[in-house]
Amino acid sequence: MALLNENYLKLKAGYLFPEIARRVKTFCAEKPEAAGRLIRCGIGDVTEPLPAAVIQAMHKAVDEMGVRNTFKGYGPEQGYDWLRQVIAQNDYRQRGLDVADDEIFVSDGSKCDCGAILDILGDRNKIAISDPVYPVYVDTNVMAGHTGVANEDGRYGRLVYLPCRPANGFVPEPPSKPVDVVYLCSPNNPTGAVATRAQLEAWVQYALKHQAIILFDAAYEAYIQDPALPHSIYEIPGARECAIEFRSFSKNGGFTGLRCAFTVVPKSLMARTRGGESQPLHPLWNRRSATKFNGVSYVVQRAAEALYTEEGKRQVSDLVKHYMGNAVVLRQGAKKAGLKAYGGENAPYIWVRTPKGMTSWQVFDKILGEANVVITPGSGFGSKGEGFFRISAFNSRENAEEVARRLKELAW
Ligand code: MLT
Repeated sequence: MALLNENYLKLKAGYLFPEIARRVKTFCAEKPEAAGRLIRCGIGDVTEPLPAAVIQAMHKAVDEMGVRNTFKGYGPEQGYDWLRQVIAQNDYRQRGLDVADDEIFVSDGSKCDCGAILDILGDRNKIAISDPVYPVYVDTNVMAGHTGVANEDGRYGRLVYLPCRPANGFVPEPPSKPVDVVYLCSPNNPTGAVATRAQLEAWVQYALKHQAIILFDAAYEAYIQDPALPHSIYEIPGARECAIEFRSFSKNGGFTGLRCAFTVVPKSLMARTRGGESQPLHPLWNRRSATKFNGVSYVVQRAAEALYTEEGKRQVSDLVKHYMGNAVVLRQGAKKAGLKAYGGENAPYIWVRTPKGMTSWQVFDKILGEANVVITPGSGFGSKGEGFFRISAFNSRENAEEVARRLKELAW
């Protein structure tokens, strides 16, 4: 009989969002009268239609695919040159950041790339993650065999956990001991906190000192409102020598159903062999893409390109304004309900303290059962997420206002 990957057996229960979906489905089956008024503020999935510029670009691209001399078969695995160029130019060079076109790797999602990046890293690295954290960073390391088993708190052996609490503004500090790889997510999922320039400088200094690699997830950078906050790790001198950046079109362009993202691997980023020889990671990621990936479809890459037109930029900005308007409504709603709320100012997530020592799943059940609203329990993001819950601002304004009203009406 074939052997299975036993690392999967170390994973805790289901992945958070399918588990929430399962519970919500059961609730709706048992209480059909409540199901009709259900509002979902759980998973951070966009609700508003795609920008008009994207739709127009896709129609054109579809028509091209229907004509022999404009039809496209396999594209470059790393993405079409015209898209890599427009990304590097708009997101980096126009902001004074040194990123070359061929350091951009277009993909079908940041979640996928955050997991796939482990292919090119060794299996003996000491890995640091924030707690609470986007579960993908942890689970992909478990699957790859980079961890021990989980303890009662759900913490895995061999991972270094960096607690994120109100006292540090939910931004992790570099640990006192060296690690080899660290995941940073800013604006943060789930807490909505954003690392300041000084905080990222401390991380880059730490990474350079210990020859560590920062895996910087900036999927929510479009939500930053405060001009003083950095959008990219490459705004920090030295980051090209120690950081890989993940970006996504899911949350700015509303591409969660369309699928397109990109990862930046600078050519100056090195890692070492077990023998101690320093080697660039860029050719490894390039090789990985060529072997394991066939690229994002032509139509979707044309859609992503359209986000960078003047019209596309305006439409993205309107989408972000819409969701951030919801974030204000929800944050204020939580406060008016007497709850302590964090985040939601430079991120589409509001991170709320559970009242009266309730666990986060107790709050989940209460809000689902009594207000018919789905939130995400903080413990699903790690043991330090216990005592908190997350409200997603991805919704219609009407629903955000209704959620704020229902939260206030709940007897806490
Ligand atoms: C979330 O709700 O945390 C997001 O949907 C995660 C993701 O984008 O994969």
